[in-house]
This record gives sequence, structure tokens and C-alpha cells, in this order.
Amino acid sequence: MRTYLVTGGAGFIGSNYIHYMFKKYDNEIRIINVDVLTYAGNLENLKDIEGRDNYTFVRADITDKDAIKKIFDENDIDRVVHFAAESHVDRSIKDPETFIRTNVLGTGIMLACARDAWEKEDGTYPEGKKFLHVSTDEVYGSLPEDENAFFYETTPYSPHSPYSASKASSDMLVRAYMDTYHFPANITNCSNNYGPYQFPEKLIPLMINNALKGKKLPVYGDGKNVRDWLYVEDHAKAIDMVQEKGRLFETYNIGGHNEKQNIEIIHTILDVLREELPDSDERKAHINEDLITYVEDRKGHDRRYAIAPDKIKAEIGWEPETMFKEGIRKTIKWYFENLQWMENVTSGDYQKYYENMYGSKKEI
Ligand code: NAD
Ligand code: DAU
Repeated sequence: MRTYLVTGGAGFIGSNYIHYMFKKYDNEIRIINVDVLTYAGNLENLKDIEGRDNYTFVRADITDKDAIKKIFDENDIDRVVHFAAESHVDRSIKDPETFIRTNVLGTGIMLACARDAWEKEDGTYPEGKKFLHVSTDEVYGSLPEDENAFFYETTPYSPHSPYSASKASSDMLVRAYMDTYHFPANITNCSNNYGPYQFPEKLIPLMINNALKGKKLPVYGDGKNVRDWLYVEDHAKAIDMVQEKGRLFETYNIGGHNEKQNIEIIHTILDVLREELPDSDERKAHINEDLITYVEDRKGHDRRYAIAPDKIKAEIGWEPETMFKEGIRKTIKWYFENLQWMENVTSGDYQKYYENMYGSKKEI
């Protein structure tokens, strides 16, 4: 039975990936989920998985080398899928150091421990050992508003935020391990994900949550920044396919050819909410465009991201399956049906964060 070590599996994409993998492989695989449970890590995301014999949760920090080494010593790990990171750009602007520590040092420690466990005396690695580093399209910087401009695997890195700079650094460490030690790895650079279990600091769940509560919808700058949205399950599938069918040492870009301006996304959310809520629901009365509030722009705000997923399609046969119209409706319905989840994650620390981030933002 193949054993996966998944880092950051209690977060948004990691928990969706674990669900996807058990749905696909059931008892054919074993997963060890290592997560320190920051504000973004939530074991509630995995409550239906907890009872499985082939699933183990270990609370550990990826920057704690002894703890990570112990996991490799005690288990014969075949695959690492490395999600754990600080992931929110706005937080990185307020506090870059936490991002450098987790994303750069943490990745360095994951690589070092995997190499120690896997490398043979002659410098080769046993067949089947693979490390997948989950990264972002933000490392490539910002594209012009030209519909023919895309990010390719060969696009030079040009990160602008402390978040994307820390992810770019971690990608470079993985590349260095591949070049220096012939370490068996892949890097994937994916566009913006959306779907269930996303923490409501990110655009889509934040707007759904605020609209349901009749709170203002804070749009940064002119609202015309473009992101390329991908349903999270399609990302999970792509990661699995890269490990199954991809060529080792290669980078694969993952994206949906689904570019939208932020303001378009917000209008879609308002439309779908109005369609889905019954007339009898009193929240329906306050869900309207008047909630949209333009606020000062994010510092260093990248204008446009757009992935060309040509390589992953040609080499591996992966293509996004969930159309945005369908995915956004599924996502909104999930938040409706999981209001308690939203209440739980928006209480406590998240409230303090929200005040700190938006309390001082000037309306424009
Ligand atoms: P998330 O913030 O929802 O989850 C991150 C998880 O990592 C949390 O469970 C957290 O507890 C854990 N974690 C953080 N620091 C840790 C540490 N020091 N040790 C152990 N665990 C730690 O993030 P996400 O949106 O699910 O993103 C997952 C990965 O995918 C990240 O590497 C991110 O850069 C990348 N990515 C995200 C997107 C996106 O749209 N969200 C797109 C492309 C790539
Ligand atoms: O592109 C992949 C990246 O996508 C991932 O690597 C990151 O981990 C993930 O957080 C995401 O980064 P973004 O900065 O693009 O996502 P976010 O949801 O924070 O913002 C999306 C866009 O919406 C961006 O242009 C900023 C804008 N925005 C965001 C928030 C939270 C607003 O206008 N208002 C808001 O309140």
C-alpha cells in the first residue's frame, strides 16, 4: 500500500485533496496528514475522514526538523504532497516574516528530511519515491491586460508580494534539490482556487459571507484585476495526475482558462445568492449591489494572472472539468449548507483579523 505524506492537509486545498484521494483510491492508499493547525487549518474539514484506518493526523510544524524527521523515520513514505504554507497575500503584506519562515524554511526542511530518508548511498532514489511541491502562478508576477498574454512554465519569475516571493524562493529550493541531488520532485504552479472549505479571508468566501450577513463587499482599487479561477477538485485531480503520469523534475502549470475581473465575480455571487435563496428568507432583502464598496487598493496589487495549461494537457491529458457557472453555484450552496462551519471559522481569531485588515481601510 502506497503511503502519502500530505502537509497542510487541514487547509483549503489540502483537505479537498485528501477527500479526492480517498474517494478515488479508498483503501488502496494510506495518508499521513501533517499540519500545525494555524488559523487556516481546520480539522472540521476532515471530520468524515477521521475514523479511517488508513488515515493519520499528526500535529507538527514543518519548520520543526526533529518532528518531521521522526515522521519519515517511523513511516515508509512513498509520496510527499507539500501544501503547507502561509497562503494569504494581504497577511504577507502585514507580516512577511511568518511567510519566509513557513514557506521558505519549512519547504527547506521538508526537502532535507525527504532526501535523508530516501537517498541511497550511490546518490540514487528508490523507484516510486516522489515529492510534489504545490506552488502558485503568482511567482510569475503580473500580466498586461492583453488577452493573448499567458504564464507558461518558461515565464521568468517576477514575484511582487512577500507571499509570492516566499513561494518563488521555495520553488527555487525544490529546483536546486532536483539539479544538485537529482531529487525526485515536481513543481505545480496553479491559478486561483475556489470551492468548499476555503477560509473567508479570500475573495469568494469573504464576499459570500459578507453578502449573507448584509455587510459591505470591499473591492480593492477599481475591481478590474483579473484572476484565473479553478474549481479546487480539478486542482486535486491535476496534482494526482502529475504524480501518476508526469515526468519527474518537470514543472506543470495548472489553470482553467477562466479569467474574470473581481467585480464580475462579485456580481455573479450576488446573482446566484438571489436565485438560490427562497423569497421567504429574510437575508434576500439586503443582498444587492449597494453592498459593493470600493476601498483602497492592495499594495503592489498584481493586475492580471492567466495560466496557459497547454503542457499539462498535452503531456498528461489533464483539463479542468468544472465550468465556472456550475462550480460557483456548487460553492455557494456548500456555504449555505455549512453555515455552522462558517460561524466556527469566523469566530475568535478571524474576527480580530478582520478588524485589523479592514477596520482602517479608507473607502474611496
Ligand atoms: P490554506 O491557508 O487554506 O492552508 C494552509 C495549511 O497549511 C493550513 O492547514 C495550515 O494550518 C497549514 N500550515 C501553515 N503553516 C504550517 C506549518 N508551519 N507547519 C505545518 N502546517 C502549516 O492554504 P491553501 O489555499 O489550501 O493553499 C495550499 C497550498 O497551495 C499553498 O502552498 C499555496 O501556496 C498553494 N496554492 C494556493 C492557491 C489558492 O488559490 N488558494 C493557488 C495555488 C497554489
Ligand atoms: O493565484 C493563486 C493565488 O490565489 C494563491 O497562490 C494564493 O494562495 C491565494 O490566496 C490567491 O491569491 P489572490 O491574492 O489572487 O487571492 P485573494 O482571494 O486574496 O484575492 C483575489 C482578488 O480579489 C485579488 O485581486 C484581490 C481582490 N480582493 C480580495 C479580497 C480578499 C478584493 O478586491 N477584496 C477583498 O476583500
